Amino acid sequence: MINPMLTSCTPEDVAAPRQSAHEADELHTGLQAPDAWISPKYLYDALGSKLFEAICELPEYYPTRTEASIFERYGAEIARSAGTGATLIDLGAGNCAKAAGLFPLLQPAQYVAIDISTDFVHDALARLRQRFPQIAMEALGMDFSSSFELPPQVNAGRRLFFYPGSSIGNFTPDEAQGFLTRLRAQCGNDGGVLIGIDLAKDAATLDAAYDDALGVTAAFNLNLLRHVNRLIDGDFDIRGWQHRGAYNAAMGRIEMHLEARSAQTVHWRGGERRFQAGERIHTENSYKYQQADAIGLLERSGFEATRVWTDPQRWFAVIHAQAIAS
Ligand code: AVI
Repeated sequence: MINPMLTSCTPEDVAAPRQSAHEADELHTGLQAPDAWISPKYLYDALGSKLFEAICELPEYYPTRTEASIFERYGAEIARSAGTGATLIDLGAGNCAKAAGLFPLLQPAQYVAIDISTDFVHDALARLRQRFPQIAMEALGMDFSSSFELPPQVNAGRRLFFYPGSSIGNFTPDEAQGFLTRLRAQCGNDGGVLIGIDLAKDAATLDAAYDDALGVTAAFNLNLLRHVNRLIDGDFDIRGWQHRGAYNAAMGRIEMHLEARSAQTVHWRGGERRFQAGERIHTENSYKYQQADAIGLLERSGFEATRVWTDPQRWFAVIHAQAIAS
């Protein structure tokens, strides 16, 4: 999805409260739905992005360090599979640190950092240009989750999309297929994708990762209500809600919800709703894939998985998938 931010491990970022009519409509629709929901993109205002950064440091949150260990161990093999000299397109680039770590191996001809947080990605790229003056670079501020057309300054040569961090898991499988299919359409017959995907594992490990002892994930989830209050003049009382984050085995996903601690009425510009005690707002899904299902998803989207690298516990997969020639 959409929007990482300020750090090497951030997904997509929606930091700046640039409120649009579309956002207000979307929030209103979700809050009025029988099963209330708020899009996970609202987790990432400036504070939310910092909280996500903190999550990535937690002992319980294994994805960031597990993915990093795979890149560290298999970086040379990954580069052999993905090839050097491509246009490297970093989706949800944030501070560009993950991609920059791969520059010596991938030696991109051009590096394109895309992030919804326009200022942030431009600043990050300005710093990176000084470290790697030999690599042509472009920063693009755009929300690539629902649609995207790459502008002409992106080289038409071989394109390698870089989508680490298992942000693909924040889409439903259908959305993920739509997203990957759009990538396929933009990468040409010789392009591909280098993607990080979180794998299914025991529920206790997953539950702990999304409901940590320090309460950082709880703060991350609750902060979404502060963000929403700002965007649509809402009066959510943060203390009246609690974080719920747990694995739903039937759906193969972590679900995050906010649960009303007591009955309350919430108002916002253009609407209001009475929530009963225990009623929930669904705020995020994080799908965990079986390796075979992840490969199937890529194949249905027009790619063939050429190589898969995992950690010894098989908790996380980094996959290089080549476009299937059309
Ligand atoms: C950004 N994304 C991959 C994270 C995840 O694990 O789904 C977001 C997150 N939500 C709670 N903790 C982390």
